Amino acid sequence: MLILGLETSCDETGIGIFDTSKGLLADALHSQVAMHAAYGGVVPELASRDHIRRLIPLTRTAMKAAGLGLDDLDAIAYTEGPGLGGALLTGAGLAAGLALVLGKPLIPVHHLEGHLLSPMISGESPQTPYAALLVSGGHTQLMLVNGVGRYQLLGETIDDAAGEAFDKAASLLGVGYPGGAALAHLAEKGVPERHSLPRPLVRSGDLNFSFSGLKTAVANLIRQVSKGTGRLQAAESADIAAAFQASIVDVLAVKCLNALKATGVRDLVVAGGVGANQQLRARLSRDVTALGGRVLFPPASLCTDNGAMIAHAAALRWQAGIANIRSAADGFNVQPRWTLGG
Ligand code: KG4
Ligand code: ZN
Repeated sequence: MLILGLETSCDETGIGIFDTSKGLLADALHSQVAMHAAYGGVVPELASRDHIRRLIPLTRTAMKAAGLGLDDLDAIAYTEGPGLGGALLTGAGLAAGLALVLGKPLIPVHHLEGHLLSPMISGESPQTPYAALLVSGGHTQLMLVNGVGRYQLLGETIDDAAGEAFDKAASLLGVGYPGGAALAHLAEKGVPERHSLPRPLVRSGDLNFSFSGLKTAVANLIRQVSKGTGRLQAAESADIAAAFQASIVDVLAVKCLNALKATGVRDLVVAGGVGANQQLRARLSRDVTALGGRVLFPPASLCTDNGAMIAHAAALRWQAGIANIRSAADGFNVQPRWTLGG
């Protein structure tokens, strides 16, 4: 079975082609990060317009890379939500148009399910049930995965997402937007122990997160270290970045370990943009292995938004007999707000 997947929920246009027997055949991506950087955040209308510009050329690129024609496809999948309404409509519109013209089924996919199952794109499989940490710019959730399509929410952020916290701290430190990777790079040169930042909700007894207070703590620390001027030496910035990263990594790791202990499951899957963070990967690998389990990450290139995870999630749902298969003749839908596993 050969599935084309379109991802347009935010600021990445992603086209993936997944074959249930051969695996991932193509993964074409255009990131709008440079376009939104001037505004310090995603501008929804600009995002939609850029998706419209990129979708067809990128689909052609992916089809060519896979050596396929549109007639070879068995289904067209797209991100139905959650995400920006206008941006979602661009991918949904092209998917429905292709499905209608080709007479193929249309498969709507939940963006977070795409992330959740993405570590398995490379063929690895955790022991089910397993725990999953979804850490992106928009979401921070711990889920119990009982099988494809069977998700139970264990805990989530009550305010900012972890990626959002990285981006806000990076902006305070002036390392650009989106700042997660840049802050992590800066932190490599710093000494995390030089400052002590809070570990929010680490002893809350539940599996929820809170990261909005960390931003304030970083702002206060910058004021204190710079003696009110806001100007920092390179080494001072690096130390603050390292302390901030250490705090987030510590909180995420403690909560993941608590989730494994509370549910009794062994394996952990980590997905979403923050899953590309090397410190988080190293810490979780060490801690989960010490508990006798395994931790699985998608390849770094598939941590952030992409079309491959959408095609892949649709394929797994189809194989499990639970794909929400639709006929494009019946129209299409998007769900900007949509909870997975509720
Ligand atoms: O999953 P994703 O591409 O988009 C959403 O669905 O939100 O995640 C993007 C987020 C951004 O906040 C970005 O700063 C963060 O992931 N990120 C990182 C790293 N690479 C990306 N955060 C920490 N360390 C990284 N290496
Ligand atoms: Zn995402």
